[in-house]
Amino acid sequence: MNDDGYFDARIAARYDESDAENFDPSVVDPIVDFLVENAGSGRTLELGIGTGRIALPLAQRGVPVHGVELSKAMVARLRAKPGGEDLGVTIGDFATTTVDGSFSLAYLVYNTIMNLTTQAAQVACFRNVAAHLEPGGRFVIEVMIPALRRLPPGETFHVFDGQEDRWGIDEYDVANQGLVSHHVEAVDGTIERSSVPFRYVWPAELDLMAQLAGMTLRERWGGWRREPFTSDSRQHVSVWEKPER
Ligand SMILES: C[S@@+](CC[C@H](N)C(=O)[O-])C[C@H]1O[C@@H](n2cnc3c(N)ncnc32)[C@H](O)[C@@H]1O
Repeated sequence: MNDDGYFDARIAARYDESDAENFDPSVVDPIVDFLVENAGSGRTLELGIGTGRIALPLAQRGVPVHGVELSKAMVARLRAKPGGEDLGVTIGDFATTTVDGSFSLAYLVYNTIMNLTTQAAQVACFRNVAAHLEPGGRFVIEVMIPALRRLPPGETFHVFDGQEDRWGIDEYDVANQGLVSHHVEAVDGTIERSSVPFRYVWPAELDLMAQLAGMTLRERWGGWRREPFTSDSRQHVSVWEKPER
C-alpha cells in the first residue's frame, strides 16, 4: 500500500470500467435522488469521493459537493471527467480531515465506512462528520449487512461475485470483526488480484457511533429506493441527524 491507500494508480485506472454496472443510471439515479431529497439547501460533503460516480451527477443536479479522498490517483480520474475540475476536493483521511465551512448533508456510500479498519477510526469518522454538519444536518451511509448468516459453521469465505472473468471472495475474521475482500479479475489475458481489508460493522453499532457523536437515527432502509429494512436485507441505507440545537 502507498499514500493512495488501496485505491492506487493501478486500481484507479480500471475502477470505472471494472465496476461498470454500478455506474449505470439504474444504480446511480436512485442514489442521487435520495441524496438530493436529503441535501436541503446547503453544501454536501462526500467522504471517499473516488472518481465521482455519485458526486458528478449530484453536482449536475445543482447540489454543491465537496469531497474528501485519500487517493490522489482516484481524484486524478475525477478531474479528467467533464465537471470534475469544478468540484472541491480535500486530500486526506475522512476520519480526521477537516474542511472549511459547514454542510447540510454528508454521505459515505458503497461500504466505504468499512475501509476504516478499527472501531476507533469509525467512531472518529462519525465525530468528524458531526463537527462538519449544520444543526439539523444529515449523515447518510450505505453499507452491507455482514454476510455471517451465509457462512456455514467453521467456514470463513463467502463468494460475492462469480463470473467468467471476475471473482470476488470475502474472507471473514469473526473474532476481530474483520474481513478481507479478495478480487480476482482476468484483464487482457493476465490475472489481476487485489485484497482489501475492511472492518465490518452492524447497524446497531453505527447507531451507537452516531449517538457518541451527538446524532440520532432518522431513517433506515433496505436500499436507495426506500425498500423496507428487514431481517433479509443485504445492505442498509441509514440517515442520522444532528439536532437543530
Ligand atoms: C469503493 S470506493 C467508492 C468511491 C465513490 N464514493 C463511489 O461511490 O464510487 C472507496 C473510496 O474511498 C476512498 N477511501 C477509503 N478510505 C479512505 C479514507 N480513510 N479517507 C479518505 N478516502 C478513503 C478510496 O480511496 C476510494 O476512492
